[in-house]
Amino acid sequence: MKNIIAGLSTIIVIGLMAYTANTGGAYHGGEHGKVIKDFGDTISNSTVAVKPKEKSDRDKENDALNALRDKAGNAGAFKVSQAYKSKCASCHGVNGSGMQNGKKLMGAKLFGQSADKVYNSLIEFKSGRRENVVMKGLLISLSKDDLKVFADEIGEFPARAEALK
Ligand code: HEC
Repeated sequence: MKNIIAGLSTIIVIGLMAYTANTGGAYHGGEHGKVIKDFGDTISNSTVAVKPKEKSDRDKENDALNALRDKAGNAGAFKVSQAYKSKCASCHGVNGSGMQNGKKLMGAKLFGQSADKVYNSLIEFKSGRRENVVMKGLLISLSKDDLKVFADEIGEFPARAEALK
């Protein structure tokens, strides 16, 4: 009985192998090019295929506009410290404008705030008196002295911008 079952399974397996070999390379495994082509055919035949979205004319215009704005923004840009650039600029803008490419960033506009005001905000975030998960998390690793340095620099932004004019 055991022998009969073993024999039958062998025949079935061999049969399956022959069948898959017949249906073409892709299903037989191995033939890379064919597999990839088959995938391609399947995707392009399928109605749910996700084609890369073409940029509309409006998108292109916006890109061009943003590139111009970038240029204009950078032309009038004053220098900021590496520390500000790497720790604050991503959310508050390179020059503290709170904007990038004409879009509002996550952080508030800092440009124009006095060093004292910025310092107080930072201390309040750090102590948790003013709640903001993002700012609190960020300030954990910074000392009060660090905060003072950032605050003093931000307080200087308007003067730096003025100096460029
Ligand atoms: C991951 C994003 C992010 C980064 C990085 C970040 N901030 Fe903020 N910041 C925020 C958010 C969000 C707020 C809350 C905005 C609000 O209060 O409306 C905020 C608020 C502030 C405020 C209060 C502004 C106001 O007008 O009340 C100050 C000052 C500030 N950040 C300074 C900094 C400084 C200095 C750094 C760099 C050391 C920094 N931030 C880095 C997201 C960020």
